[in-house]
Amino acid sequence: MRSMMIGAAALLGLGLTAPALAAEGGVPHLEWSFSGAFGTYDRAALQRGFQVYKEVCSACHSMKYLSYRDLRDIGFSEAEVKAIAAQYEVATIDENGDPATRKAEPSDRFHSPFPNDEAARAANGGALPPDLSLMAKARHAGPDYIVALLSGYHEPPPGFVVAEGKSYNAVFAGNNIGMPKPISDDQVTYADGTKATLAQEAHDVATFLMWAAEPKLEERKRIGVKVMGFLGLLSIFTYLSYRRVRRKVQGH
Ligand code: HEC
Repeated sequence: MRSMMIGAAALLGLGLTAPALAAEGGVPHLEWSFSGAFGTYDRAALQRGFQVYKEVCSACHSMKYLSYRDLRDIGFSEAEVKAIAAQYEVATIDENGDPATRKAEPSDRFHSPFPNDEAARAANGGALPPDLSLMAKARHAGPDYIVALLSGYHEPPPGFVVAEGKSYNAVFAGNNIGMPKPISDDQVTYADGTKATLAQEAHDVATFLMWAAEPKLEERKRIGVKVMGFLGLLSIFTYLSYRRVRRKVQGH
């Protein structure tokens, strides 16, 4: 019985504690509100992260899998979502059949900065700024990597040749990156008054990108905890009934 209880507790404990893993390839492991079995998104960080995306990253990166109305999920009201959408224009056809533009609606996808990849490359010295909708899942240790990438612009080590039009980045593969250093201290003025250090901005935008890539994380974790609890209880009851049956069979 005791070993069973310990087993069940160990099973439940799995995932409850995200052990601080050693830094991997120069990407330090950070603390995130959404780590562990009870992890949730920090709504304030998500809204600040959206502000960083909107004011900085969206100049080059699309997030084409998001609609403005998805922002309700991170705590914006209907009216706020409508106001955010209305800052953008989308192509449409007017009543005469001519091309026209209209204000974006909450149901529209996020505005893309470039009409296509060719235009995006042309504006970025040949490098393509990838869509960020799923980026936090597309890279190993996504949020940690994004923070390390955004904070990884340093002086190159002696002898390292930075290619024409590129910047040195400590964690980007090959270290020559086509993205100029996008954020610095006070790059944005946070609506909630939080001090906008580079580290804060990087952490917030990485949180926002994680939410974009996995909006249902909280639900998944809630279900996971319930299932683990159920399995734990089930194993206890199974063990108890096994003991009862064994006692009967053995005639004690
Ligand atoms: C001036 C345009 C520009 C801005 C602004 C910009 N980026 Fe980039 N970004 C790029 C380009 C170009 C690349 C592709 C780099 C390459 O392939 O060398 C890139 C690549 C990336 C990558 C992928 C790196 C990889 O491992 O492939 C991430 C993640 C990223 N940017 C995040 C951001 C975030 C977050 C912001 C806002 C804080 C931002 N970018 C702002 C142009 C930009």
